[in-house]
Amino acid sequence: MARYTPKFNPRYPSIEDLREGARKRIPRFAFEYLDSGCNEEVNLRKNTREIREVELLPRYLDAYKEANMTTKIFGQEYDAPFGISPIGLQGLMWPNSPEILAKAAFDHNIPFILSTVTTSSIERISEITEGKAWFQLYHPTEKSVRDDLIQRAEAAGCPVLVLLCDTPVFGFRAKEIKNGLSMPPKMNIANILQVLGKPKWAFETLKHGQPNFEVLRPYMPKGLNLKQLGLFMDQTFSKRMDMDKIAQIRDLWKGKLVLKGVATEADTEKAISLGLDGIIVSNHGGRQLDAGESTIKPLTRIAAKYGDQLTVMMDSGVRSGPDIARTLASGAQFAFLGRSFMYGAAALGKSGGDHTAMLLKTQLKQVMEQIGCPDVSQLPNFKNI
Ligand SMILES: Cc1cc2nc3c(=O)[nH]c(=O)nc-3n(C[C@H](O)[C@H](O)[C@H](O)COP(=O)(O)O)c2cc1C
Repeated sequence: MARYTPKFNPRYPSIEDLREGARKRIPRFAFEYLDSGCNEEVNLRKNTREIREVELLPRYLDAYKEANMTTKIFGQEYDAPFGISPIGLQGLMWPNSPEILAKAAFDHNIPFILSTVTTSSIERISEITEGKAWFQLYHPTEKSVRDDLIQRAEAAGCPVLVLLCDTPVFGFRAKEIKNGLSMPPKMNIANILQVLGKPKWAFETLKHGQPNFEVLRPYMPKGLNLKQLGLFMDQTFSKRMDMDKIAQIRDLWKGKLVLKGVATEADTEKAISLGLDGIIVSNHGGRQLDAGESTIKPLTRIAAKYGDQLTVMMDSGVRSGPDIARTLASGAQFAFLGRSFMYGAAALGKSGGDHTAMLLKTQLKQVMEQIGCPDVSQLPNFKNI
């Protein structure tokens, strides 16, 4: 029997290998910004651990042809049932990483979600993805900024706008506090020493120049020092989401509207009542509420109860093809991965997005063939309940 011939760099056959590659290649403050969770990191660890408690039952003797990973959501057909979660400050981990990941998403025909606070603009990412990227909007305090961002997303052809409800306050992240890494990052002596120990990162970062908040550039006064920039960020966003803000955006946005960060049935019902098209069950990758549930638990309940009323997706803790299969088997129509893709970009630079997408597709296909599942939509039938 033929073994899997990897179409990716065989030195990195798992997300954990990419994580380790990233840890070695980028300064500690950048790695810890990406890698860490909040408080004691209980929620962060629980996410992956509890996804992995889901078991799949194989059907070895059923007739079987091939695995179909194609998935249609929001009227768009994707080649696989997973996409790339929005991540802020991506250029800090590796220069041009939003562009690298957006290009990989486009090439693999999977969705890429651009964060409001990342380092490439809506327009640039739209160009790379031919208008296929989704946009995640942090809610601006000023209506004029909100409306302008929405208009830019619409003009860029964004099919899906993603609102966030799980960041009413900044998460308490001890490692970021220790590193002096706030939004924006501050450069202290310890951080400078770490940079000197990572010459490839330092060289690439110097070559590309300091990462900037490109989405927000039009609204930022020029020449802000770091302290003023921090103040600008604090004043620009009203962190707590509410029903009224969502209802207003529902009226303004003509495309599909998704709420990310949903963790309970009660908030799902509110999302349905507001006419949202989908939710991403998410706990921000364990970065906000350490005492919260892992996402697979509410996902299972929410998908069973409301899966026929709106598109239910999930992120947080997904680190492999089998994890994607477990997530879909538990009722999600789609899975998103945040850190996994960023580990790829940080470890492998330009080829990191392609490598990660290829790795996950290969692993997912292998699981489906192993259990005899012909189509991703049928994964729930293979769950051991
Ligand atoms: C470094 C980092 C920055 C993030 N920035 C954002 C952001 O700007 N907007 C957002 O909606 N979610 C953000 N998230 C959350 C991700 O979109 C996603 O929910 C999370 O990474 C999923 O968990 P995973 O990393 O275990 O896959 C961030 C996550 C990380 C790790």
